[in-house]
Parts: sequence; structure tokens; C-alpha cells
Amino acid sequence: MPITDTGPAIRVRNLTKSYGDVRVLDGLDLDVERGTIVALLGSNGAGKTTAVRILSTLLRADGGTAVVDGADVATQAARVRASISLTGQFAAVDEVLTGRENLTLVGRLRHLPDPARVADALLERFSLTDAARRAASTYSGGMRRRLDIAMSLVGEPAVVFLDEPTTGLDPQARLEVWDAVRSLAASGTTVLLTTQYLDEAEHLADRIAILHAGRIIAEGTLAELRALFPPTTVEYVEKQPTLEEIFLAIVGSAGPLAEEES
Ligand SMILES: Nc1ncnc2c1ncn2[C@@H]1O[C@H](COP(=O)(O)OP(=O)(O)O)[C@@H](O)[C@H]1O
Ligand SMILES: [Mg+2]
Repeated sequence: MPITDTGPAIRVRNLTKSYGDVRVLDGLDLDVERGTIVALLGSNGAGKTTAVRILSTLLRADGGTAVVDGADVATQAARVRASISLTGQFAAVDEVLTGRENLTLVGRLRHLPDPARVADALLERFSLTDAARRAASTYSGGMRRRLDIAMSLVGEPAVVFLDEPTTGLDPQARLEVWDAVRSLAASGTTVLLTTQYLDEAEHLADRIAILHAGRIIAEGTLAELRALFPPTTVEYVEKQPTLEEIFLAIVGSAGPLAEEES
């Protein structure tokens, strides 16, 4: 992508989406700057996947606008698709194929001139070279998810969507995937990841957007979110609120039935 592109990688304004009577997105606003990792943090059922599916052109919004890498998801879907990749909650890896075959297959589908070279570079980058010629069915959960992320990078998309990249992984595999995600942003790729894990948002994201009741109810760096809440004094030590405390405080006070805090 040309670096002369200006404006954020993702700009969402007043996005709405209902399933029947259920309003899942109710005026979603979000900006993601280029080359940053933003975590869309929300509980199960908050609408994270719905938002990502709209941004990746798989689903049409009822209202509002979303621009990804300079193209409108509703009217310029093909342009959006050319500059993004989506890694879903359930790995797209073909278990029968080897890691290398999975990667070269994607490269061929994307009409790259040299899929094998691209595959080998990605295998190296995600520490999968030793396992490259084994069937993906023999991979651990972490290896499989790393392969999945590697597959999403074939063709060098400007914007990568990761929908709950570590859900269902054991702690060691989660750390491996976190390293893989960090290496994405280090190479200039913009990453929008969804997560229901506070520690994941805390450790990976440059900025955190909390999705609740269909809209972003708080957004900022961890430090900015912390500044919304005064430190508590515990046994003479000033204790910074954790993201969990911030999340519960915000979400707990966002409902229509919530009482004013004094
Ligand atoms: N195709 C669908 N039809 C009806 N309801 C749906 C559909 N997809 C999602 N939902 C509902 O929309 C809400 C948000 O779902 P989703 O975006 O998957 O949330 P999340 O990814 O944050 O867990 C949930 O209540 C879910 O049951
Ligand atoms: Mg989801």
C-alpha cells in the first residue's frame, strides 16, 4: 500500500445492524490509525464478530458508514477485499495439507508470482519451518493459529482482522500467538483484533475500544482508560486500576438501569 495514503486505516461512523428485533450494533464509531493494533473488547455476544464481518464486507450494515484503507465497505467492497484479510475464530487451515501447502495454496489463489517463496518466508517468520512439511493435523493449537495468521498475510494486506485469535488456546499457545500479532504491527500492518480477554487487550493493543450495548462506550490507551478512574489506595500503596476494574466499572455503569455514581 502506498504510504502516501492519508487518514486512518479504518473509520467507522454510526454503524447499525439488527437481527430481527435485536439491535446488535447501535451507532458504532471507531477509528484505527495505520500501523497500530486496536482491540475491540467485549463480552460474548457484544457484536464483535458482527462488526468485523461488516468491515470485511461479508455482511451488510443497516446504516452508517465504514471506510477501510480508503474504500467504503458498502460501495467499494472489491477494493476493501483487496487490502484486507480476515482470520476467524475457527481456523481456516486445511488439516490434510502441510503448513507449506496451506500457504502456497493461498498464494496461488491470490495469483502471486512465486507462492513457494512467500510460503517459506512466512513459515520462517512464524517459526514453523521445522513443521513446514507435516500435515497441519499434527500441529498444536498454537502452531495452527500461527499458520492461520501466516495465511492471512499472504499478499501483504494493509489491514488484518483477527476475530478472537486466542480463544480456546492454552496459555503457552496464547503467548506464541501474541508474539505473532506483535510482529504484524511491527512490520507496519494495521491490526483490528477482537477479544473477550482483558489481559489480551492490555498486553497487545495500542488502543482499546470497549464494545457494549452496540456501541463503543470507552476508547483509548490503557493509560487513558486508567485516567478515567482514580487509583485506589490499598494499604498505603497507590494501586492503579486494572483493565478488569475499568471494564467492570464502565460496563456496569453503562446500562439503562445503572444508578449515578456519586
Ligand atoms: N446470523 C444471526 N442471526 C441472528 N442473530 C445473530 C446472528 N449472528 C449473531 N447474532 C446475534 O447477535 C449478537 C452479537 O453476536 P456476535 O457479533 O457474534 O457477538 P460476539 O462476536 O461479540 O460474541 C448475539 O446476540 C448473537 O446471538
Ligand atoms: Mg465473535
